Amino acid sequence: MFKSSTQTIPTVNEVPCHIAIIMDGNGRWAKQRFLPRVAGHKQGVETVREAVKACSELGVGYLTLFAFSSENWRRPPEEVSFLMGLFLAALEREVAKLDKNGIRLRLIGRRDRFSPEIIRSIEAAEARTAANSGLTLTIAADYGGRWDIMNATQLMLKAHPELATTGFEEADLEPYLAMAYAPEPDLFIRTGGEGRVSNFLLWQLAYTELYFTDTFWPDFNRTALEAAIQSYRHRERRFGRTSEQLKSTPC
Ligand code: IPE
Ligand code: IPE
Ligand code: MG
Repeated sequence: MFKSSTQTIPTVNEVPCHIAIIMDGNGRWAKQRFLPRVAGHKQGVETVREAVKACSELGVGYLTLFAFSSENWRRPPEEVSFLMGLFLAALEREVAKLDKNGIRLRLIGRRDRFSPEIIRSIEAAEARTAANSGLTLTIAADYGGRWDIMNATQLMLKAHPELATTGFEEADLEPYLAMAYAPEPDLFIRTGGEGRVSNFLLWQLAYTELYFTDTFWPDFNRTALEAAIQSYRHRERRFGRTSEQLKSTPC
């Protein structure tokens, strides 16, 4: 288990160990160019490729990308179906390259609302890359932070029914959260100008440094990513302590 930011003081490194991104602004990027919204999603896949490469090279351990929220099903059916098609095509096309580059792919979120074809493809991609030891790339698809906490609670109570009467603690719940295999994100990035979390990793973002940029996701290139990391480097992560305490104990 990784250190919880509320139960212990996590180690802070120059390069964030875990970056979590809300890839927003695809539709507006396309609209600006008088293109259909879906053209923005297509271009967004290119940015994903670039971000994965940059994070691997920079020594980031975990990159988590919000691709489809539990509320994105509310979009027009044509857009949802385009996104599903794009997701499946990207999974099938990219897995060999990810594997070759030592990247471990994980999916978090509900799986039961995807087509059997997508579910098979997710399982195959995860199995093929499971033993890789490079960057862990997590795609959050049909993911919602509230779902994650509810789901974890249900799983925990199923495994330990006695906790329903004795009560439980954070450490009891954490192994059942969707990202139990990763440390909590050090840096959260949201592109596209909105200043909200949109039901992303609600539990895990407790002490994450937040970075918001107006840049639309398809324009979020390596330089933009490095600027976000640069901003992160200047943050003082106190985890509840005072600045003076930090100076006497470096992390
Ligand atoms: C993010 O871009 C991609 C998904 C949510 C799938 P949007 O499609 O939300 O783009 P905007 O926010 O409408 O510009
Ligand atoms: C958040 O973006 C979800 C993803 C990027 C996958 P949205 O565009 O769906 O968020 P809201 O609706 O503006 O909050
Ligand atoms: Mg959006």
